[in-house]
Amino acid sequence: MAEISRPELFEFQGVWMTHLFTDNWENIQNFQARPDDVLIASYPKAGNTWVSYILDLLYFGQTLPEREASVPLASRVLLLEIAFPSLQPGLGNPPPVVKGTDLINDLSTSPRIIKTHLPVQFLPKSFWEQNCKIVYVARNAKDSVVSYFHFEGMTLLHPAPGDWSSYLQRFMEEKMAFGSWYDHVNGWWEKKQSHPNLHYMFYEDLVEDFGQELDKLCCFLGLSPSSEEKGMITRRVQFDDMKKNNMVNYSTFKGMDFTKSSFIRKGKVGDWKNHFTVDQSEMFDEDYKQRMKNPTLQFRTEV
Ligand code: A3P
Repeated sequence: MAEISRPELFEFQGVWMTHLFTDNWENIQNFQARPDDVLIASYPKAGNTWVSYILDLLYFGQTLPEREASVPLASRVLLLEIAFPSLQPGLGNPPPVVKGTDLINDLSTSPRIIKTHLPVQFLPKSFWEQNCKIVYVARNAKDSVVSYFHFEGMTLLHPAPGDWSSYLQRFMEEKMAFGSWYDHVNGWWEKKQSHPNLHYMFYEDLVEDFGQELDKLCCFLGLSPSSEEKGMITRRVQFDDMKKNNMVNYSTFKGMDFTKSSFIRKGKVGDWKNHFTVDQSEMFDEDYKQRMKNPTLQFRTEV
């Protein structure tokens, strides 16, 4: 297997990024979206994989069941901005760079379901020009930072997280890959006001009332699955089922160290309480109030 060394953060057009998400920048910005592309956007760790799987099952669960069982979700719903050296053995030294834009252009399925963690100002303009359907999923800041901390501990495609308290500080300083959580969730929220083809969902709502959120999502997408189909999707995307499913839990991906954590890790609202001290929570809340000035965007840290 090719050696992977963790990338470093650097400031890119005002946002902290790593080269794995900027090396292919020109192709990303010139990416040609198609009118029927469906984009799933989120800050990292908001439940993107969960919603990607729901979308994939909605579009292809009935028509391509063999694909569900044999192709990892990460190869069906591709990350637009990724550019990393192939982890497959025997492809040369240095190995060829795998680019999300190329993989998406090679997809033969329609619609293409594409995922991104880009802040709204970085999204290629063709998605807006083609008026693509966009699903944004957001998750409260405290659970997001906890989930990101565990994820960065196990994935070699991100910088090492360091200890929890300095990590929390760095999150508040907005020095994370894909930049500021605060700017991300607010930027996409504001865009929604002028772009009706953007459906803004919350992780906490999905946990609390999955059926209702699935109905809202189908309504937005213009899909009318039967109640059997909805039941099948509901069962397959349950946390425990996804955790066991090797096609969605990233266990086939070589860039993660599963001895450190799991990708489908805890799946709870409120896990932050197991990580934040009382002092950290108070300091975080105080700072949060200063940054989150838009009263129409409200997050829940418990359900
Ligand atoms: P935790 O680390 O808090 O468990 P993303 O896919 O955007 O990287 O988000 C990953 C987070 O979504 C992880 O959160 C993961 O466990 C959670 N997740 C994935 N599938 C889920 C499901 N079916 N139900 C609830 N949470 C899920």
